[in-house]
Amino acid sequence: MTKLPLHIAIIMDGNGRWAQKRSLPRNAGHRAGVKAIERTLDACIKFNIKYVTFYAFSTENWKREKSEINGIFNLLRDYLKENPEYFKEKGISVRHIGEISPFPQDLKDELLKIEKSTNKNNSLIMTLALNYGGRDEIVRAVNAIIKKDKKEITYKDIEKNLDTSFLPEPDLVIRTSGENRLSNFMMLQIAYSELYFPKVLWPDFDEKQLKKALKVYSKRERRFGGTK
Ligand code: IPE
Ligand code: IPE
Ligand code: MG
Repeated sequence: MTKLPLHIAIIMDGNGRWAQKRSLPRNAGHRAGVKAIERTLDACIKFNIKYVTFYAFSTENWKREKSEINGIFNLLRDYLKENPEYFKEKGISVRHIGEISPFPQDLKDELLKIEKSTNKNNSLIMTLALNYGGRDEIVRAVNAIIKKDKKEITYKDIEKNLDTSFLPEPDLVIRTSGENRLSNFMMLQIAYSELYFPKVLWPDFDEKQLKKALKVYSKRERRFGGTK
C-alpha cells in the first residue's frame, strides 16, 4: 500500500448487537470488544500505524443501564491491568482524551499508572477516548482559554487547549456496525478526515478488516480544499 494513515481513529460500535445475536448479555459484547482492541493493536503494529485512537465511552453513554456502565469500566480496568508487559514489549504509549474525573478510582488509578509507565514508548500511541465528547471537549477548551484572560483567539488557541493537543488530526475514521454517524466524536479534529463505515460489528473486527480499511483509504483522494 502506497498511502498509509498516520492516525486512525475508531468508533467501536456494535458490541450490543453482537451479543444480542448470540442471546448473550450486552457486557459479553463489550468483553469481545476488548479482544477486538487487542487484535487491532497487533494489526496496527504490523501495518506500521503510528497513532490509533479508540472511542471507548462517550459523554452520552452515561444514559445506559448502571450495570452495563460498570461492566464497561471493569473491563477497561482489567484490560489496562493485564497488559503492561505487552505495551512495554511493543513500545506502545497509552494515553487518554476525555474528562475522567467521574470514573471509578480503581479505573483512574490503572489508567494513570499505565500512562506513566508507557510515557516514553513511541512505536505506537494508543489513545482511549473516555467520557469523551467533542462538544464537551470544546467547552472545556474555551473555558481554559477564558481563564487565561484572552480577549481574542485564533483556531490555534482552541487546538492547543483541546484534549487532543498531543495528537495529529485523524487521517482515517472507522465506525463499525454500519451506522453512518459520528456521535459527538472529535467534531473539530476530523473536519478533513476520511470516513469509512464498514458493516462489521466491532467484536468481529480483525486484521483483515483493518487491511480492507487501509486499502479503501489508500484510494481516497484528499484535497483539503485545494485542487488536485
Ligand atoms: C459500542 O457498542 C460500545 C460502546 C458504546 C461502549 P454498543 O454497546 O453501542 O453496541 P450497539 O450499538 O448497541 O450494538
Ligand atoms: C458511540 O457509539 C460511542 C462509542 C463508540 C463509545 P454509541 O452506540 O454510543 O452511539 P449512538 O448512540 O448509536 O449514536
Ligand atoms: Mg452503539
